[in-house]
Amino acid sequence: MIDHHGRNINKLRISLSEVCNMACTYCVTSLSDHKRSPDELNADQMLYLIRILKEYSGIEKVRLTGGEPLMHPKAVQVISGIRDMGLTNIGMTSNGQLLARKAEALAEAGLKSVNISLDSLDPEKFKRFGRVGKLHKTLEGIEACLINDMRVKINMVVIKGENDDEIVKMLEYGVTRGVEVRYLELMGMGPLYKKDDFKLVEMSEILEKISEKYSIQTVSADSDSTSLRYWVPGGYFGIIPNNSAPFCSTCSRLRLTSDGQLIGCLSNPSPISIRHLLNHPDPVVPLQKLVKKSVAFKQDATFTGSSLVMSRVGG
Ligand code: 5AD
Repeated sequence: MIDHHGRNINKLRISLSEVCNMACTYCVTSLSDHKRSPDELNADQMLYLIRILKEYSGIEKVRLTGGEPLMHPKAVQVISGIRDMGLTNIGMTSNGQLLARKAEALAEAGLKSVNISLDSLDPEKFKRFGRVGKLHKTLEGIEACLINDMRVKINMVVIKGENDDEIVKMLEYGVTRGVEVRYLELMGMGPLYKKDDFKLVEMSEILEKISEKYSIQTVSADSDSTSLRYWVPGGYFGIIPNNSAPFCSTCSRLRLTSDGQLIGCLSNPSPISIRHLLNHPDPVVPLQKLVKKSVAFKQDATFTGSSLVMSRVGG
């Protein structure tokens, strides 16, 4: 679907579950903030909505998010169902805690790439960021994905005074493992919405820290990519400049929540339910209307913050 800014909205991000087994400080105020929606879709319901979005609304790429997508009891079944629809471009964003156990089954089901959230390589700091969860589990999860031939990227949310001293260390870890690190500028969402002590580290500071040790070259990224891409001797890294150069103008995303609501824009959420289409005898026309309505909420070029909690939409 082409939106009113000329963008081709062909990527669907699906929050499989709002539950998470970590409680990152920039995402929620406590673990109990992550609540499973009482209306969480089961695998068959989710697959039906994905199928009609693919067939009638031009969705070509799918990323499973959350919460933690692996907290959905049938995550593997959802992935194989998506693959069986002929969608081969399937990715996942995960905190990695359960990946060591599940990577093999996920790869067999058709998962091609995993973006793993990893904000610190120091066990104590990792715990401070995530409140629950263990560093070694995420690191083992990364290894398991690599062994199973999945493409792995690391997402590091950079926060002033908390982990900005680890920018180079994380890059070196990524380069030695053949994994692209992507530094995310902090976004004013959920508990950080309109907060005064917003500990932003800008893209320019990230590049400066890295260039003190390595020579950096800019390389091209996909035209609808959210990240700027760079090369250092040995590998690549990216920056997702949510604040200093937000990706809105090239955003090709539509989001589906775990309870069947469409969200077009992170800044302007206005959820629109398509859940009732599960029981609709002829869902095509109503679906297209609802997708159009949701996409119309997409802003042009600025991320303006949102009270929306990331675990509802997964980015
Ligand atoms: N700012 C930036 N990134 C965030 N994420 C979650 N909340 C925020 C925020 N407020 C990250 C997660 C995950 C990705 C989908 O978004 O760590 O890697």
